[in-house]
Amino acid sequence: MSYCMQIAVTDRAPSPQIDRAPPRLVDERALLREGLTRPLPEISARYLYDDHGSALFEQITRLPSYYQTRTELQILERDAAELLTLAAPTRLIELGSGAGRKIRLLLDAWPTGQVDRTCTMLDINERFLRDALAALARDYPQIRFHGLVGDFQRDLPHIPKAGRRLILFFAGTIGNLDPAARRAFLRQLAADMDPEDALLVGLDLVKDPRRIDAAYNDPEGVTAAFNRNALAALNHRFGANFDLDGFAHRAFYDPVAARVEMRLVAVAAQRIQLTDLDLELTLARGDELRTEISCKFTRDALTGEAAEAGLQLRAWRSDPDALFALALLGRAP
Ligand SMILES: C[S@@+](CC[C@H](N)C(=O)[O-])C[C@H]1O[C@@H](n2cnc3c(N)ncnc32)[C@H](O)[C@@H]1O
Repeated sequence: MSYCMQIAVTDRAPSPQIDRAPPRLVDERALLREGLTRPLPEISARYLYDDHGSALFEQITRLPSYYQTRTELQILERDAAELLTLAAPTRLIELGSGAGRKIRLLLDAWPTGQVDRTCTMLDINERFLRDALAALARDYPQIRFHGLVGDFQRDLPHIPKAGRRLILFFAGTIGNLDPAARRAFLRQLAADMDPEDALLVGLDLVKDPRRIDAAYNDPEGVTAAFNRNALAALNHRFGANFDLDGFAHRAFYDPVAARVEMRLVAVAAQRIQLTDLDLELTLARGDELRTEISCKFTRDALTGEAAEAGLQLRAWRSDPDALFALALLGRAP
């Protein structure tokens, strides 16, 4: 069962108002079961972001080797005002908003003359969303905030339609979708966008593989803990009995596919029961589970994918070392 829940926060009503959209039937257990019974068993990256996982991700964003967050923040610090001028939104919508740090740079640069400025944040993690919205509502009382607990792959039909929208998708999160899922996601967004709406996407760029490898193999071990935590999430949500110490973190960049794969390697033979899935998983020593992919982009690759989905590149902003980029897209005429 997947649900989508709406939270509204304004300066007049600081305690969140919650609406639940009608539940839709998505059989999480069947999807997870199908993933775990593939030749290379797979756990959806969405399970990385329970409360502990989201807190670990916040720690990752501050690690010296994790260039992505600070580079995207630098680009936003430099270019937020210009991007807002190009898009001229009355409503910001952030997908996978997490702690809501980056959106502050846009809120700071959003012209105050703009009446009725509204900001919607969508995330799968309700606690992080609530905390982020409460902090934003406190710090920006002149802006109306609205939250949507939901899944950006399943709940796009529930994002607000009103206003001139700038849809934000930061952190290279689009790279967590494989090419087919990305195509479907971009097509759905494009079909839903009005000609004056825009989409701002953060992209981790193709670069020296050693730089990318280092970002996912920090010596502090935070990414390893983040990766293993997916198993704790399955233990908690689906009655599984994974032993987290029974798995080693592995992350590597595949330059041909231009993507990082994050995996968990069984350090010994083991049998895992997933009670709610009615599944027993038998692993030999060295068997792997995939927990995340993170695709890397070039400007040409992104422009091509966008065009296929009916979107056109309106601006491309990168850092001097071409580590990361922000692509502003609009509907193709
Ligand atoms: C890589 S983090 C990025 C967080 C934040 N936007 C940033 O730039 O630091 C991905 C975020 O997307 C959320 N997320 C992951 N999968 C999701 C899904 N399928 N639907 C909605 N949110 C999701 C996570 O909870 C997390 O907050």
